[in-house]
Amino acid sequence: MRKAIFAVILGLATVTTAQAFAADEPGNVIKYRQAVMKAIGGHTGAIAGVVKGEVSFAGDVAAHARAIQEMSQLVAHLFPKGTDNESQAKNRALPAIWAEPAKFDAAVKAFQAASANLVKVAQAGDPSAFGGGLQQLGKSCGGCHKPFRAEKK
Ligand code: HEC
Repeated sequence: MRKAIFAVILGLATVTTAQAFAADEPGNVIKYRQAVMKAIGGHTGAIAGVVKGEVSFAGDVAAHARAIQEMSQLVAHLFPKGTDNESQAKNRALPAIWAEPAKFDAAVKAFQAASANLVKVAQAGDPSAFGGGLQQLGKSCGGCHKPFRAEKK
């Protein structure tokens, strides 16, 4: 009986370890990365709704901006080698990301700066300034998507 329980525990330990090693497999990283990008897109779209005057939730903008800023800290490690769109299916990350690391890094930094700025603008609480902050943020998305993201197929 004891032996059997021990065998089960040992089995679980082996599975857990195996999962820990398998978890960062390229396909999984890509799925995770796309989920993070979707979250960033969701918060950006929500802010746009306020800026366009579609909704009156100006007080929510700071929360969305903070979420984007938190996510901007993750972006740099979402692109491990081997997750480009030539070696892996179902993703749009161009090989240029790895061919031009300094340029990619600059795009990440510009995004982090724009999202930090938007947090400041939102917390200052003047809704007439939100549009400018959002525009700067949008530029930083495009500054990475244009050179580093493939067109949708
Ligand atoms: C440093 C580069 C970089 C920055 C900055 C960046 N993105 Fe992305 N984004 C990418 C890449 C590369 C992909 C494609 C990833 C993939 O397909 O695996 C992507 C994908 C996306 C997607 C599609 C996700 C999916 O597959 O459904 C959305 C939405 C998105 N980004 C929104 C944004 C928004 C909004 C911003 C700015 C607020 C932003 N991104 C900033 C590089 C960036």
